[in-house]
Amino acid sequence: MVSKKIAVLPGDGIGPEVCRQAVKVLEAVAGRFGHRFDMQSYLMGACAIDATGNPLPDETLDACRAADAVLLGAIGDPKYDHDPTAKVRPEQGLLRLRKSLGLFANIRPVTAYSVLLEHSPLKRERIEGTDLLIFRELTGGIYFGDKGRTADGEAAYDHCTYSRPEIERIAHLAFRAAAGRRQKLTLVDKANVLETSRLWREVVREMAAEYPEVAVDYLFVDNAAMQVILSPTQFDVILTENMFGDIISDEASVIAGSLGLLPSASVGERVALFEPIHGSYPQAKGKGIANPIATILSAAMLLEHLELDAEAALVREAVDEALHNGVLTKELNPTAPYTTEEVGNYIAFWIADSNEKQWN
Ligand code: IPM
Ligand code: MN
Repeated sequence: MVSKKIAVLPGDGIGPEVCRQAVKVLEAVAGRFGHRFDMQSYLMGACAIDATGNPLPDETLDACRAADAVLLGAIGDPKYDHDPTAKVRPEQGLLRLRKSLGLFANIRPVTAYSVLLEHSPLKRERIEGTDLLIFRELTGGIYFGDKGRTADGEAAYDHCTYSRPEIERIAHLAFRAAAGRRQKLTLVDKANVLETSRLWREVVREMAAEYPEVAVDYLFVDNAAMQVILSPTQFDVILTENMFGDIISDEASVIAGSLGLLPSASVGERVALFEPIHGSYPQAKGKGIANPIATILSAAMLLEHLELDAEAALVREAVDEALHNGVLTKELNPTAPYTTEEVGNYIAFWIADSNEKQWN
């Protein structure tokens, strides 16, 4: 029996709906294994701005710091997207949270599930067998450099900076992951143009000597964007900077058949954070059509991070069961769709039921 504190940040749009399902699944896991998960919710994003004027209230940040792990839904609201003059934005909350918790590595697995191969717009033969892991740098680069306007407001800038230690710490994680997988690491950059990319290449090339079992190759991001959907099975671990990783990972989600399937883990100095890679999908809010699986699989990654491997495996088994039986939301099952809650219930009940089987 373990006792863990999980800070839950449901966020905006569909965030609360998908988070509720993941919390339900974690409760089922706790029941099945006799654990105690203390799961309190806190405000972050547009909902926090509405309530407090601050996208990341101190109470939320303190709760995350004090937790064993953080589970996040999604943040963002169109009213800010359409107002370029807004000074306070939901995204600032997420970026400040990542920075404050030192979450420098965002890990995004992309798998082509065999039962969903027909759902991808990509040809089956191209994507079958895809199993790649993206390591996206998360607290540096253009996202966090100086940004602003010139005095007359007619020009704007966003600086991109990377230091050697920033590159080394995530590259070590990516090399180690590759060593435990298919021993291939691809650095995605724009070293033909950007000085920061040339530093990434220099550092990774030097570090490769420490990991002789890992084969390293280098791809320019424009070519990588093409290769990821043309022949994704060539990739094992992709290592890249903040913005390239943001873009490549959304693109790679078409391999899985839905953005609603892709989880992520953000790790770094201490407490780790788990969130789906999708956004707050405001058009779907309250309609029961949002896919909760990305958040549920993020909860599985959370369990793995807490070294609860059997628990995580059970969640993955339950998700596989839902995939195999077509217990899926509209975008993956247009003819007989299940609601967000029904998918969550199915997965949670399956986990709880495995308990009965065990006891009978
Ligand atoms: C993501 C999102 C965020 C990002 C936004 C909401 C700031 O797109 O987690 O991928 O760009 O990092
Ligand atoms: Mn993104």
